[in-house]
Amino acid sequence: MATYTIGSTAVYVMLSVLSCGRRNQGRVRSGQTGRMVLLVREMTAEDVDVIIDYFHGSSAEHLELLGVDPTRLPDRARWRERYLRELQLPVPERSVALVLWESDGQPVGFSTADKIQLGVQAHMHLHVVDPLRRGDGIGISSVRQTAALYFRTLSLQRLFCEPNAFNAAPNRTLQRVGFRYVKTHRTVPGPLNYHQAVTRWVLDQAPQPQTGSILG
Ligand SMILES: CC(C)(COP(=O)(O)OP(=O)(O)OC[C@H]1O[C@@H](n2cnc3c(N)ncnc32)[C@H](O)[C@@H]1OP(=O)(O)O)[C@@H](O)C(=O)NCCC(=O)NCCS
Repeated sequence: MATYTIGSTAVYVMLSVLSCGRRNQGRVRSGQTGRMVLLVREMTAEDVDVIIDYFHGSSAEHLELLGVDPTRLPDRARWRERYLRELQLPVPERSVALVLWESDGQPVGFSTADKIQLGVQAHMHLHVVDPLRRGDGIGISSVRQTAALYFRTLSLQRLFCEPNAFNAAPNRTLQRVGFRYVKTHRTVPGPLNYHQAVTRWVLDQAPQPQTGSILG
């Protein structure tokens, strides 16, 4: 696996993926691998619909898994306006950071960070947009690169993530990336969420660049 840093805001990773994937239901590895190049970069104005389409296009069951209340989703136009306003601000003045995960020029996922205290801490979120591409290793590799990007661009001392306690995929992914378990508690984790049990994970330093296969 090779990792290349381009400027300060984008990271390319050559990723080994399973050709048939470990699908959510089966959890079976095919053993056959393919190669893909994953690009992790800050979003531009052209990218923000990836987030909005993902949430508005999600089933009630998926939103439930995320702990998102569908009635709290802002309408598309207002949501887009808010992100475009944020992207016009200098990074230190933004209340949210938006990161795209791309493969072959196509968006495969994204991360956002909020509750930002510049130079101190932030909270991140993680999503592979196509359900059929989940469980193939994109999450571990992208979260690792995204966390490194947040540490660098926001000068963080620590990075938190608080997925729904019953949502296995992010909890497992965070542990694999090196996040440390802090506690499980009930809270309303964000403006889109309802009151729920969440697991708090923390990363105290930027993850080390990858040197081996993510499947190792
Ligand atoms: C969370 C998410 C980004 C992880 O990305 P991914 O590409 O699916 O994860 P990976 O294939 O890199 O797998 C990472 C680890 O999670 C495990 N995992 C992935 N999906 C899982 C599932 N549905 N159930 C249990 N474990 C799962 C993998 O087995 C792997 O652990 P292992 O290597 O010890 O076996 C992705 O599954 C996703 O977008 N889920 C829906 C959105 C979501 O829940 N976001 C969290 C909101 S905070």
